[in-house]
Amino acid sequence: MIDSEISALDAREAAFDEEYETMLRGVPSEPGHRVLDVGCGRGFFTRLLSGLNPSATILGVDTDVNALENAHSVCVNQLGRDVAFLNASAYRMPIPPEFFDLVFFAYSLETLSNHERLFKEMNRVLKPGGRLVILEDDGMHRMVLPLDPRDEGIVQQALATAFERRSAGIDGLCFSRYAYRILKRNGWRNPKRYSFGFDRLSPLSRIDRRFFDIALTELWSLVGDHTPEHERARLKSMLVPGGRDYIVDRPEFSATLFTSLIMAKKDGSNFSNAASCSAIDRVPMKPR
Ligand SMILES: C[S@@+](CC[C@H](N)C(=O)[O-])C[C@H]1O[C@@H](n2cnc3c(N)ncnc32)[C@H](O)[C@@H]1O
Repeated sequence: MIDSEISALDAREAAFDEEYETMLRGVPSEPGHRVLDVGCGRGFFTRLLSGLNPSATILGVDTDVNALENAHSVCVNQLGRDVAFLNASAYRMPIPPEFFDLVFFAYSLETLSNHERLFKEMNRVLKPGGRLVILEDDGMHRMVLPLDPRDEGIVQQALATAFERRSAGIDGLCFSRYAYRILKRNGWRNPKRYSFGFDRLSPLSRIDRRFFDIALTELWSLVGDHTPEHERARLKSMLVPGGRDYIVDRPEFSATLFTSLIMAKKDGSNFSNAASCSAIDRVPMKPR
């Protein structure tokens, strides 16, 4: 992950830690379950999943060794116990078939963009009846800001143009919206989606303020070039930290962040499954 991605994720996770924890209480993870956190990054969700289900065996998988080091110390420092992490690609994991009760991944569908390979591998490592749980946003509707409707329309139009020009297109950046289609295309039936809104009103804490500064800087970097020229300076002064009319400085500032959990169950109608294997000691879950 590049530094700007790390700081954006860190800022969001720090600001909405409690809300994410509440949200993850809805994840069907039972005592003793084996849980996989795919593309676990710096371990924010691995720690939450492990904290909510201390008797579960949790494995975080990522290709970024530095992120895994961080994830490991986050779990040791904040949970007071070890969690296993594995440096491997999510597309091909050294894990026996039908091993996990729950496969989770957060904000990774853009990075792990070969969805066909990804979901085939998730299906392979999940037990029959196991759950796939995906946490994702809709790129077009991540945040409701206190803009007047006309300005909101301009920003949305600019965002649509920015996404259309990126190689992933709108389809590839609005994962929570298209999750049903993506999953169905890849052999999963009957996914369900649960959406959550996290609200903030001023006065903001320092941590919340940092989140909005980073999120709005990111938003402007996407939409700035696609706003009509005659509106650009005015919108920039509202959306960029330090601007004369920066909306986060307004005494009545309020905003809602949206995110979704998409859940699907592996049943007989998924892909054909490989033979089952229950040998936990065959999994290379070395504590790092
Ligand atoms: C946007 S980050 C999300 C991190 C974490 N789930 C979170 O929400 O904080 C995507 C993660 O996917 C990891 N990743 C990229 N390609 C991967 C692959 N082939 N297998 C496993 N992880 C991968 C990256 O290293 C990064 O940590």
